[in-house]
Amino acid sequence: MPTNALLKIDDKEISYPVITGSEGEKAIDARNLRKDTGYLFYDQGYGNTGSCESCITYLDGDNGILRHRGYPIEQLAEQSEFVETAYLVIYGELPSPEQRKRFGTMLRENAAIDTQMMRIFEGFPRGAPPMGMLTSIVSSLAAYYPHLATNNFEKDLENFDLTAAMAISKIRTIVAGIYRYRHGLPFNYPKDVPFCDNFLHLMFSEPYKEYAAIPEVTRALNLILLLHADHEQNCSTSTVRMVGSSGANLFTSLAAGICALSGPLHGGANTAVMQMLQAIHDEGDDGTRFIAAAKSGSKANRLMGFGHAVYRNYDPRARIIGHACDVVLNKLGKTDPLLDIAKRLEHSALNDDYFLSRKLYPNVDFYSGIIMRALGIPTELFTTMFAIGRSPGWIANWKEVASNPKGRIYRPRQVYVGPVKRDYVLIGKRG
Ligand code: ACO
Repeated sequence: MPTNALLKIDDKEISYPVITGSEGEKAIDARNLRKDTGYLFYDQGYGNTGSCESCITYLDGDNGILRHRGYPIEQLAEQSEFVETAYLVIYGELPSPEQRKRFGTMLRENAAIDTQMMRIFEGFPRGAPPMGMLTSIVSSLAAYYPHLATNNFEKDLENFDLTAAMAISKIRTIVAGIYRYRHGLPFNYPKDVPFCDNFLHLMFSEPYKEYAAIPEVTRALNLILLLHADHEQNCSTSTVRMVGSSGANLFTSLAAGICALSGPLHGGANTAVMQMLQAIHDEGDDGTRFIAAAKSGSKANRLMGFGHAVYRNYDPRARIIGHACDVVLNKLGKTDPLLDIAKRLEHSALNDDYFLSRKLYPNVDFYSGIIMRALGIPTELFTTMFAIGRSPGWIANWKEVASNPKGRIYRPRQVYVGPVKRDYVLIGKRG
C-alpha cells in the first residue's frame, strides 16, 4: 500500500502523504500543494476532492454500498426506525434504552412552533412553494432562539442536544404547517405520540376527526425518512458544512442545506419523477418517448430518478424502496398506475445500452414518491419530506465541523478565465 504519492511539476518532485480511510479509501493529502508549487488542482464539481475526514457515513458508489456509522443501510431499513437511526447518525452509536427515551422526550417536548413564529406563515402567499417557505421558516429559528444560535461553536455545542432535537422536531412540524397553511386548514398542535405518528397527526387531523394511526403507514413513513437520513458529502450536506465552517450556528447552516436541496438535480428530483410519470400516464405513452428524449443528452430531458453523482451501480436505497412500494400498496389495498409505469420505464432503461453503458440506474427518488403518494402526502411536499429525513445527517455533519479544533473555513480556489487587466473608460455619457 503506497504511503506517498510523487508529484513531478516543472523541475520539482514533491512527495505527498497518502491518507487511508477506515474502509481502505485512499487519498493524496495535497493540503500543501499551493504553498509548495503555486499550482491548484482543478476539479470542477469536486468529484475527486475529499473536502473533509468524516466518521458518519461510508458510501461506495461502485459497489452500491451505504453504511451509517458502520451499519449497512439494509439492516437499518429492516430493523431500525427513523428516530433511532437519527440518533445513531448524530451521536455515532445506537442509543441505549435510556438514551432512546431521553431523545424521544426531547423530540416531543420541542415539537411545537412558537405562536409568534406561526405569524411568519401568514406572510406567505397561499400558493408559495413549500421549499421556499421551509428555508425561510427554518432560518428564522436562529432569530427565535438566539441563545442556541450564538455563532460561537463552543457555546452552541454546549446546547447541542437541545438544538439538534429542536431542529429535527420543528422541521417536521413546520413541513406539516406548510401543508395546512397552503390548503387553508387550521394548524394542529403536536401530540405526545411517536415522531412519525405525530407528523401524520399534524398533517391529517381535522377539528372533529383526529388522525388514527395506521401501523403500515407509520412503518412506511419511518422507512422513507430513515433512507434519507444521511448520504455523505452530497450538495446539501457539503453546503451545511461550508456554511457551518464560517462559524454559523446550526439553524442557519440547516437553512442553507435546505436551499441546496431544493434543486431538481438533488432533492427536487422526487417531485420531478412524479411529474414525469404523470405526464407519461396523461399522454397514454408507455415511456418510449421519454426514454428517447433522455438519450438525446439534453439536461432538460433527463430521465428523472435515474443516475447518481456517486453510484455507478444500483442505489441500495432504491432497491429497498422499490420493494417497499409493492408491500405498502398491497397492505393499504391501493393500486397506482404510476407504479406500473415506473416499473416499465425501469425495465426499458435497464435493457437499453445508453443507460447501461453510462451505469445509470434508478436512484432513491425513483420510487419514493409513489410511497409518499400512497400515504396521502401531496407531491408538492415531497422535497420537504426529504428535508425532514436528511436533517440528522446535516446536524451530524455540522457537529463534526463545529467540534473540529483544527477546522478551517471552507474556501475553494478557482482558475480565473475572465478578461485580463484593462483600464476603465466611460462608455457613453453619464445620465
Ligand atoms: N437521464 C439521461 N441521461 C443521463 C441521466 C439521466 N437521468 N443522468 C446522467 N445522464 C447521462 C449524461 O447526459 C452523461 O452522458 P454523456 O456521457 O453522453 O455526456 C452521462 O450520463 C454522465 O452524466 P453526468 O452528468 O456526468 O452525471 P452526473 O454525475 O454529473 O449527474 C445526476 C448525476 C445529476 C444525478 C444525473 O444523473 C441526473 O441529472 N439525474 C436525474 C436527476 C435525479 O434523479 N437526481 C436525483 C439524484 S439522487 C438525490 O439527490 C437524492
